[in-house]
Amino acid sequence: MKTKILLLSTLMFLIIGTQAQSQEAAAPKKILVAYFSHSGNTRAVANQICKKVNGEIFEIATVKAYPANYNTVVEQAKQEQKSDYRPELKSKLKNIKQYDVIFIGYPNWWSTYPQAVKVFLSQYDFSRKTIIPFCTHEGSEFGNSLVDLKKMCPESTIMEGLAIRGSAAHNSGDRIEVWLRQLKLLK
Ligand SMILES: Cc1cc2nc3c(=O)[nH]c(=O)nc-3n(C[C@H](O)[C@H](O)[C@H](O)COP(=O)(O)O)c2cc1C
Repeated sequence: MKTKILLLSTLMFLIIGTQAQSQEAAAPKKILVAYFSHSGNTRAVANQICKKVNGEIFEIATVKAYPANYNTVVEQAKQEQKSDYRPELKSKLKNIKQYDVIFIGYPNWWSTYPQAVKVFLSQYDFSRKTIIPFCTHEGSEFGNSLVDLKKMCPESTIMEGLAIRGSAAHNSGDRIEVWLRQLKLLK
C-alpha cells in the first residue's frame, strides 16, 4: 500500500511538473521594437516589425534634431563618431525589465549605428535579454555594427539580424515575414 501511494505521488509530481514546464514554454514574450531613424527608412521597417510581432514601439530620438540636408548630416555624423559624442535623447523607457525580446533598428551611419543608438544601449541593462538587430543601409548592410553591438551588450543573446536597403524599406514585408518566421516570432 505504502509503495502504491509513493508511486502515485511521484506520478502526480511528474505530471504537475510537465504541465508547469509547458505553461512556461507557452508564456508569450513581451517584445519591444526600439529604433532610430533620420529620414524614415528604418522607421518604416520598425513599424512593419512591430505590427507583425504585436510589440511595443519606441523611437530613439535626440533632443537636438539632426539636419535634414544629407551632406550636412553625413559630415556631422562623421565628426560625432570620431569624437565619440553622446547626444542627449528625448525620452527614456519606463521599464526595460518587462521586455524579453528587444528589436534594435538603425540606419548604417559610417559603417555602424548612429551615436544616439550607442547612448540608448548604454542607458539600460540588456543582460540576459534577447536582442534582434535590424538596419537600413545603402550598400554596407550591417557594417561593423554587429561587432559593436556585441561589445556594448556582452551578456545579451544577439539573434540573426536583417539588413534592408533603404530604398526597399517601405516594400519589404515579405522579407521581414520570412525572417520573423525563422525567429519564430511571427504572430
Ligand atoms: C550620416 C550618414 C551616414 C551613412 N553611412 C552609410 C554607410 O556607411 N554605409 C551605407 O551603406 N549607408 C550609409 N548611409 C545611408 C543610410 O544608411 C540609409 O540611407 C538608411 O536607409 C537611412 O535610414 P533612415 O531613413 O532610417 O535614416 C548613411 C547615411 C547617413 C545620413
